[in-house]
Amino acid sequence: MATDITIVLGALAFGTRIDHAQSFDLLDHYLDLGGEWIDTADNYAFWMDPSGRGGQSETVIGRWLDQRPGARERVRISTKGGAEGFPDNADGLSGPALTKALGGSLDRLRTERVELYWAHIEDRSVPLAETVETLGGFVADGRVVRLGVSNHPTWRVDRAREIARSRGLAGYSAIQLRWSYLQPLPGFPLPQSAHVHATPETFDYLASTDGMWLWAYNTLLDGGYTRADRPLPDAYDHPGTVRRLAALDAVAAETGATRNQVVLSWIAGGKAAVAPIVGVTTAAQITEALGARGVRLTAEQRTRLDLAC
Ligand SMILES: NC(=O)c1ccc[n+]([C@@H]2O[C@H](COP(=O)([O-])OP(=O)(O)OC[C@H]3O[C@@H](n4cnc5c(N)ncnc54)[C@H](OP(=O)(O)O)[C@@H]3O)[C@@H](O)[C@H]2O)c1
Repeated sequence: MATDITIVLGALAFGTRIDHAQSFDLLDHYLDLGGEWIDTADNYAFWMDPSGRGGQSETVIGRWLDQRPGARERVRISTKGGAEGFPDNADGLSGPALTKALGGSLDRLRTERVELYWAHIEDRSVPLAETVETLGGFVADGRVVRLGVSNHPTWRVDRAREIARSRGLAGYSAIQLRWSYLQPLPGFPLPQSAHVHATPETFDYLASTDGMWLWAYNTLLDGGYTRADRPLPDAYDHPGTVRRLAALDAVAAETGATRNQVVLSWIAGGKAAVAPIVGVTTAAQITEALGARGVRLTAEQRTRLDLAC
């Protein structure tokens, strides 16, 4: 098993669409299969809850950590702040907002620290230095191990890192963006308007920045690689999709892996450090996703997949 590939469990639907008992089973199954990282956010999943507020996902994870002796030592927690109240009243990235958000997350998660904490969305109403100082302070006081930034353009990530460096603070060392094997037409709106897609510039930045990690979300395109009930969004309606699916099927046949597994292996096994997040909601989906750790693409297969476009 190629365990150097990290497949992150996306817990967005836990505690809302997926009830507590089912969430516990999925978390157990992920841990049993050697899963290492759980990704959540303080606003998951406000749009699925009658309250219109988030926190349900963190709450169910916190209860699970509480009731599973030893689990906290085996699993790393990634959560995000800043986007509760999105889109009209997002908390944003001011010092007070982030401080309150992290406190709430730690309470719900029933833990004293998280291994990765993300600025979930941009907030240009706040001076970047204020956000950087606040997040750097979370690392300095031990409540956060590592910082990440989601849905930001690269130039803002780099500017924030520069401010952190100049002040001797921990800065962002992870970027979370939408990314999969199939590519949307550039500039074509995605159904999820808040999603920010990785671009060639993202990978150029990763290649020229030591220690930078990309976490890819929506990697399975909501099941669109394999399910007739999950048509691909219009942004993927172009000839490149046909060519990429043909290349994917050829490599899947050669490796004996599923389309989803080849996609995850392609995402995780390239030159850049990339961890795919999977929003799995059944045990079978977890088994399939984690099975991608055993799918090793040859250099020739990877090149063929890369060149299909
Ligand atoms: N930073 C951000 O702004 C951001 C944005 C979006 C997501 N995320 C993170 O990324 C995670 C995953 O994102 P996502 O849920 O949008 O995308 P995803 O992983 O592409 O899609 C998840 C959906 O795909 C279906 N699915 C999963 N595994 C499957 C399989 N093996 N075969 C067939 N269908 C399968 C499931 O549908 P059913 O449940 O209907 O079976 C599942 O709900 C989230 O949980 C969250 O942690 C972050």
